[in-house]
Amino acid sequence: MNDQATVLIVDDEKHTRDGLRLSLEDEFDCYVAANAAEAMEYLENDRIDVMLTDLRLGEDNGMKLLDAALALPKPPVCIMMTAYGSVDTAVEAMRRGAYHFVTKPLNLDEVEILIKRALRSRTLEHENVALKQQVERKFSIEGILGQSEVMKPIIETIQQVAPSRATVLIEGESGTGKELVARAIHNLSGRPKANIVSVHCAALSPQILESELFGHEKGAFTGAQERRIGRFEQANGGTLFLDEIGEIDASTQVKLLRALGEQTIERVGSSKPIQINVRVIAATNRDLAKMVEEGKFREDLYWRLRVVTIQLPPLRVRKGDIPVLADHFLKELAKTNGKAFKPLGEDALPAMMKYDWPGNIRELRAAIEHGVVMSNSNRVMLKHLPSYLLNPHGLGIGLRAPSLISTKDATSTTPTDPAIKPKSDLDITEVEHQLILQALQRSGNNRTVAAEMLGMSRRTLQRKLKDLNMVRTHRRRVQPEAQTPAS
Ligand SMILES: Nc1ncnc2c1ncn2[C@@H]1O[C@H](COP(=O)(O)OP(=O)(O)OP(=O)(O)O)[C@@H](O)[C@H]1O
Ligand SMILES: [Mg+2]
Repeated sequence: MNDQATVLIVDDEKHTRDGLRLSLEDEFDCYVAANAAEAMEYLENDRIDVMLTDLRLGEDNGMKLLDAALALPKPPVCIMMTAYGSVDTAVEAMRRGAYHFVTKPLNLDEVEILIKRALRSRTLEHENVALKQQVERKFSIEGILGQSEVMKPIIETIQQVAPSRATVLIEGESGTGKELVARAIHNLSGRPKANIVSVHCAALSPQILESELFGHEKGAFTGAQERRIGRFEQANGGTLFLDEIGEIDASTQVKLLRALGEQTIERVGSSKPIQINVRVIAATNRDLAKMVEEGKFREDLYWRLRVVTIQLPPLRVRKGDIPVLADHFLKELAKTNGKAFKPLGEDALPAMMKYDWPGNIRELRAAIEHGVVMSNSNRVMLKHLPSYLLNPHGLGIGLRAPSLISTKDATSTTPTDPAIKPKSDLDITEVEHQLILQALQRSGNNRTVAAEMLGMSRRTLQRKLKDLNMVRTHRRRVQPEAQTPAS
């Protein structure tokens, strides 16, 4: 095995060094050093996983070696050897960061067990750091924040599809970031004449939409006093973003189909085809497939549009992204409001994690803005956020009467109506959910190990798991108690 763990044995007595090496070299890759200088040589140049060092090293002080080893960028796990009776020094060594100590005369089996344990704790420590980093890492391309598992494939798709000319259909509820994604795709497309032109299809009457998209000739219809260049032509060489595509009428659908298929358009009132080179991105918060079924949207156009589809999940299924988004909006809005804010008050985030955000990210942003405006201190607390946050299912959406934004209301309301009682399965934040599930997975469902990875006591984990187990979806992922290996 070439990835055997490495152990550095440091002792000024030759027979101890040799004895240890003999007993350990079957299991580990062993190095020996007779003094601190030799030891440092190995520590600096080789990958040493565990250092086993005498506390009294002739003239060298083992404690100094310990400090130097622990100060390295990738410190080894340090186990100290000490003469029987000098336990105080050993305790001091542990206070400084040594993993453990063994007393001389050595029990070689004990040493081996200790080294194995040390290695395991080191792996766990590394995994713990990696786990935390993973949760903290912010995926951000073109201002799209989101670190949750559901956002990762979306970000990958955006990156993958951007440089192509493929038509993209973005589906998602209101406020999930459809326009942001459309702009990201355009910005990453690298199209030379990089302009993006947006048309909000729902806002225009059929006739106006048609001339808006394709332009018109002078005198094409009453009121057409000038020739007008349409959005397709304006977007030539770049991207045309058709927002609320589900709202366009039947006749414009036909024309759009042709524009997409043949890359030519005709201005209203003209039969002269104009060649265009436009990448189309469409967005909708309607269920287009259902509209096709109901005969409200052309099937051929539907398939033309959805060469690539991006489905943006509602915020309630990716609550793990709330902390990052909230933090981002807090910073942004504090800046625009000329205020300096500390991170969100500790009661704010739990409430935000419980709420279902029917208005999605736009609503989250609005809530933070509410908080920024209502707070007179340097912190946004729960009492500064809209009081409907206390209703986890978002029944409060739209109820933004002044009485509901009174801060008094927000702090004193404990929902008693069962309909607005926070769901008990959301007592732990989504971030915690993720961490716990990952830790359990990585520890092979060993709760002691998982608790260690999470930096919490086994009992705390136990308690949190009890909450977690109430959730049916999680129960499937977390093995039931009976199958958990004894730990
Ligand atoms: N992943 C994200 N990271 C950061 N900000 C986001 C993200 N998604 C959306 N936003 C912000 O949320 C707000 C709403 O996004 P956007 O306008 O793109 O939503 P939409 O899906 O087009 O909504 P609608 O259907 O109502 O038009 C914007 O301020 C946008 O910048
Ligand atoms: Mg939009």
